[in-house]
Order: sequence, then C-alpha cells, then structure tokens
Amino acid sequence: DWIMRDHIEEAVQKIREQVRDEEVILGLSGGVDSSVAAALIHRAIGDQLTCVFVDHGLLRLHEGDMVMDMFAGKLHAKVIRVDASELFLGQLAGVTDPEKKRKIIGGLFVDVFKAEAAKLKGDGAKGAKWLAQGTIYPDVIESGGAKSKKAVTIKSHHNVGGLPEQLGLKLLEPLRDLFKDEVRELGVALGLPHDMVYRHPFPGPGLGVRILGEVKKEYADLLRRADAIFIEELRSTIDHNSGKSWYDLTSQAFTVFLPVKSVGVMGDGRTYDYVVALRAVQTSDFMTADWAELPYALLKKVSSRIINEVRGINRVTYDVSSKPPATIEWE
Ligand code: XMP
Repeated sequence: DWIMRDHIEEAVQKIREQVRDEEVILGLSGGVDSSVAAALIHRAIGDQLTCVFVDHGLLRLHEGDMVMDMFAGKLHAKVIRVDASELFLGQLAGVTDPEKKRKIIGGLFVDVFKAEAAKLKGDGAKGAKWLAQGTIYPDVIESGGAKSKKAVTIKSHHNVGGLPEQLGLKLLEPLRDLFKDEVRELGVALGLPHDMVYRHPFPGPGLGVRILGEVKKEYADLLRRADAIFIEELRSTIDHNSGKSWYDLTSQAFTVFLPVKSVGVMGDGRTYDYVVALRAVQTSDFMTADWAELPYALLKKVSSRIINEVRGINRVTYDVSSKPPATIEWE
C-alpha cells in the first residue's frame, strides 16, 4: 500500500543520509527484527551492507540454509556465514547448568561476531564504520525501563548490548521507532516471505535451552527433526472456526529434548530411546502464558510421525504447564 511505500522511501532516505558512502555491518540471526533491518538497509545502500550470520549449530532444521537462500540468494545481499558449531558444541561439552549454558553461548556469540566485525572494520579508510541492529521500540523501552531492574534474574538473556562501543562503530537502528506489528508489515512490503516475517520468536541460545542438561550434537540432530515435524503439522492444520492454522493460533510452539530414555515397543522388538516434550503456548506479552489447547487429532498425528520418523525417540509428551509458575522455555 501507499502508506507503507512512503514509509519505506522515507526510511531509505534517512539511512542514506546517515551512512553516506560508508560501510555497515549487521548481525543476522534469522529472526524477524534483524531480517527486516537487513532487508531495509540493503534496499537503501546495497553492497555497502555486509551481514554476518553466526551459525552456532543450535538452529532449527535447515534454518542456516534458509537464511542464506533468502539473503544471499534472493536479495543478493552480502552475507558472511560463520559456521561456529564445533566451537559452540566444544565449549558446551559437559556443561549441564542452564545459566552456565546461557552464559557460554552468549559469550561465544559475542566473541565470534566481534572477530568477524574486526576483520570487516580493518583499519583502512574502506573498513566498516557502522554496526546496524534490529532494535525495535519495545527493546528501547525495556532497556531503560523497569524490567532491567528486576531483583531476581530468572534467565540471563542473550543480547549484544554495548557492542558498538566496544567495536568503535557507530550505531544504525532503523527500526527503533517501530512496534513489532509495524516491523512485520514493513518486512512483507520489502518482499520478505510472510512465513519468515510472522514466525514465532526463537531464543538467542537456540536449541541450547531446549536440550535439557548437556548439549550434544546427537541430541540437537534428533530434536531438529522432531521439531520440524511439529511445526509442519501446526502450519498445515487449520482450525475451522477461525480459518487460521494452529501455527498462527499459537504464540510459540516447539519441541524440547529430554535426555532420559524410556522403554517402548516397535514391531516385535523392544526399544529404549529418548523422550521429547511438545510445548505450545498462547500469550500476548510472553510474561504470562497459557498452554495451548491443541486438538487431540493434531497431537496424535505429531506424536505418531515423530516416533515413526525419528529413530531414537520413542515417546512424545505434551507440556500442560502455564507461565507462571513454569516458564515458556524449559531452561
Ligand atoms: P521464558 O522461558 O522466560 O521466555 O518464559 C519468555 C520469552 O523469551 C524468549 N527467550 C529468549 N529470547 N534470548 C532471547 O532472545 C534469550 O536468551 C531468551 N530466553 C528466552 C522465550 O523463547 C520466550 O519467547
């Protein structure tokens, strides 16, 4: 529509005026905000933008390839994919404490990103001068507001505050005045696929907080396949009252890997394999949440597909805990 086109034109002009002929670096995560920021900045300055996509090995099935296809393939943006999965998995080996895991993943993420940014910055006149971030208006309020003063840290969130100063780069935040809905509309208007722009949130530490206890590649591989089945069925199951898919009717849905084994039977054999839990919630603010009353037929299909298709998992459970007292993620 016209209003959105004017918005884009205005935002593009503003970015060009700010950046002029200088180079910009952006950390692409595959999430909505950094994706929309990347698409907008790319629209404004093309190859003056370099996106850095750090793959920590804890992404969902095919997620890294999808990010590359979209940004490098379709938008023709410059994207550096850093495959750091061995580094992350190596540092996580033997670590079971959720807060320690979060700190390791967040710390490594910053280190890897900084090393890439330092290369792009170089010291010549042509090096990058700007760091772009997909900060949106609610993040601006949150970082100055009451939430950061909370007495008890339930979970230390993974973020990259302070990076521009540490890197000696100027900060470019073209989404700072926008609410999430506006960011989504902008993303669609910029040509990003609807499914990417209307995705559920995904935590920075990724599958690292959805594999309980020690993170192992074997667990991550099983979890990715099980989770992909759950999401596929949520997307393809339409609720006839609303005409919406169960993916759109839930605020967040995912699979959790439980590193315990239980006995099962398959054919005439005994199995002794891992358990996963399905989690699906409805919430308006993610501070409180209700577990979603998914149709039994959907749960049944997801369960039987996971058990039949993912060798190594023989039991599927459904999490019926609300927040509070449970949290949305299990770690
Ligand atoms: P909890 O589990 O605390 O999660 O109920 C609330 C929301 O926050 C997301 N989450 C994170 N997002 N970095 C993020 O960017 C993180 O470290 C992180 N931890 C949790 C979670 O997915 C849910 O949407």
